[in-house]
Amino acid sequence: MIKPVSFLAELVGRMTLAEKIGQLVMTGPPPPDRPAVDLRDAIRRGAAGSILNVTGRPVLDELQAIARQESRLGIPLLTCLDVLHGYRSIFPIPLAEVATLDPALWERTAAAAAAEARRDGIVMTFAPMLDVCRDPRWGRMAEGPGEDPWLAARYADAKVKGFQGIDGARLRQPTGLAATAKHFVAYGAVTAGREYASVDVSRRTLDEVYLPPFRAAVSAGVVAVMPAFVDLAGEPMTSSALLGDLLRTAWGFDGVIVSDYGAVAELVAHGVAEDLTHAAALALSAGVDIDMMSPAYATGLPVALEKGLVLPSDIDAAVMRVLTLKWRLGLFDGERGPTALSCNDDDGLDLPREAARRSFVLLKDDRGALPLGQHGDPIALIDPWLDRSDMLGPWPAIGAGDAIDLGGALAKAFPHRTVFAVPCALAGSDEELRSALRGSGVVVLRLGETTVMSGEGASRAFPVIPDSQLAVAHRVLAMGLPTVVLLSCGRPLIAPDLLDSAAAILVCWFPGSSGAEALADVLSGRSEPEGRLPVTWPHAIGQIPIHSSPRPAGRPADERDRFTSRYIDAPTAPRFWFGHGLGFTRFALERLDVMPDRVGLGESFVVTAHVRNLGGRTGRTVVFVFIRDRTAHIARPVLELRGMIPVTLEPHAGADVGIRLRSDELAPLGGRGDQRPEPGDFDILAGFSAEPSGLKAIRLVLSDLSGGSVKQERRHDA
Ligand code: BGC
Repeated sequence: MIKPVSFLAELVGRMTLAEKIGQLVMTGPPPPDRPAVDLRDAIRRGAAGSILNVTGRPVLDELQAIARQESRLGIPLLTCLDVLHGYRSIFPIPLAEVATLDPALWERTAAAAAAEARRDGIVMTFAPMLDVCRDPRWGRMAEGPGEDPWLAARYADAKVKGFQGIDGARLRQPTGLAATAKHFVAYGAVTAGREYASVDVSRRTLDEVYLPPFRAAVSAGVVAVMPAFVDLAGEPMTSSALLGDLLRTAWGFDGVIVSDYGAVAELVAHGVAEDLTHAAALALSAGVDIDMMSPAYATGLPVALEKGLVLPSDIDAAVMRVLTLKWRLGLFDGERGPTALSCNDDDGLDLPREAARRSFVLLKDDRGALPLGQHGDPIALIDPWLDRSDMLGPWPAIGAGDAIDLGGALAKAFPHRTVFAVPCALAGSDEELRSALRGSGVVVLRLGETTVMSGEGASRAFPVIPDSQLAVAHRVLAMGLPTVVLLSCGRPLIAPDLLDSAAAILVCWFPGSSGAEALADVLSGRSEPEGRLPVTWPHAIGQIPIHSSPRPAGRPADERDRFTSRYIDAPTAPRFWFGHGLGFTRFALERLDVMPDRVGLGESFVVTAHVRNLGGRTGRTVVFVFIRDRTAHIARPVLELRGMIPVTLEPHAGADVGIRLRSDELAPLGGRGDQRPEPGDFDILAGFSAEPSGLKAIRLVLSDLSGGSVKQERRHDA
């Protein structure tokens, strides 16, 4: 094999300035309001090294052929698309997939999506999206890993390995994609949840909350990083010193930094660049290699070079990084033919369906309404607001919703019951509605967000179920039939009354291309809902931002005392805590143990939970393991997630399940990798969610010395 460094350096040596800048430019079909671009001509001239949003093997093959055979140096293209949660077969949205709490599944779905996309000529995705978010007003919460940095870091690791293979082993294969960790960093903390707004978080919060998933992605070998659109305390991420100081220098990231869409030119609007030349110079000097869809590099870099605002060596270094990525993807060898594959992965299972049904979160099921029996009165389906494509969610790549049919899937899953749609729910009178529902045994009512209400550009000041839907929901509920609400959403939706009166509420998010079958699986009890909330669900809009690991207040909330950290017009606690989610059986955490109960730095300990299935049905649950540093130099959050233990138990069976933790995992998560735990007392807590009353806690002492300590089991009192 040719040595890449000498081959690529020699190639760079033969390039003109225009060809070099061309390698740093990503272009594609422009938005409707902008002038058309002649992609073929740009590629032929060597003026476009990467393209985005062009799909379909024939056209991509044609464009690659132009690059390879008709451009002067024959340099292949990076062909890019947002393959976030599937390519043609669409998995549930990322937030939903996180709810499965299963890193192996996260990896499998990324690998399956990568294989489908690469087979169709795409080589690079802008995923995983790793923005921790604690604000349901922000629509992009749907694309990300939820509120918890530890969980987000696990997710980052799994997704990068899924897209690229371990250590990038699949990059050269016809089944791998170059992954992009985005959006670096803290985009999830936009002011008041408003899209693209400024961000201002402390360095500590940056380190402990927003950076950990990016650090995990870099450790897993991600080959690209995308800076966020936003500014962080006045420094737009596209020209931020963090790209050089932290990402490249401290973390040793040597991959490609690709700007977000148009973000280099937006440095002017941010108020840090005078014009496109200045913007191009700022971004390139900060370390941004590829300018996605802005004119800044193409028009500004030649001038910036002339003016001495950038050095020729900066341009060469960026070009070298882009070419190295192309080399790592095997593009200089010519693209290999596709292997036969589909999104039914190697087990032969329907992976989108498995991922979807495991992502559903059963928020409540007061009267044991679910699963619905195989025999009984007809099932009335009321689903007038969301169309088929609304099952797919905001980044459906090339997935199509045509074949999705909830009514059909329910009819198939309940062969002995009639399933019928109620068309008059919207327009008819109460009398018409009553007569339509007469004789039915249960109503399945799907409510929630349409695709455009979620994702990018979909901040909502009122993250609620639309009034028009609620009005119908109240009329339906008033009929007195047991009503199962299916909630489609990309974020928690506040709906207090509805939560009280529906018999059961199943959050189905945007479940993807097999969402209808997956819903039928769960409603019929073929599978149980296994999802657990990856974000805290507020009672009221005024509680936002909200999450389940705040720092303790000097005056912790006491509902009887006004002068404590609470609201006078809303509960302090959320409606549902992080990790909440019911199954079709109930579990108890009967005992918790930590061995040993005193550890030194560098040692490890084992947390063991005794779990019992209290019901008459086999079920799966997850035990969350949290820590709390009782007293530290800097106050620690009341809960910090450090482990998850999945457990499946037969009816009435009990089992001891455990995990081993290292004492250095008692440290705060650190984006810069320099965190150490402080010796002293820690609580090790475990439960099925972050809800305080359900947690058991045991004291652990971290000390440099070895020796005994007092251990006591008690309830968590945070
Ligand atoms: C989004 C990115 C995305 C890019 C390309 C931008 O608007 O912020 O997440 O990768 O478009 O589609």
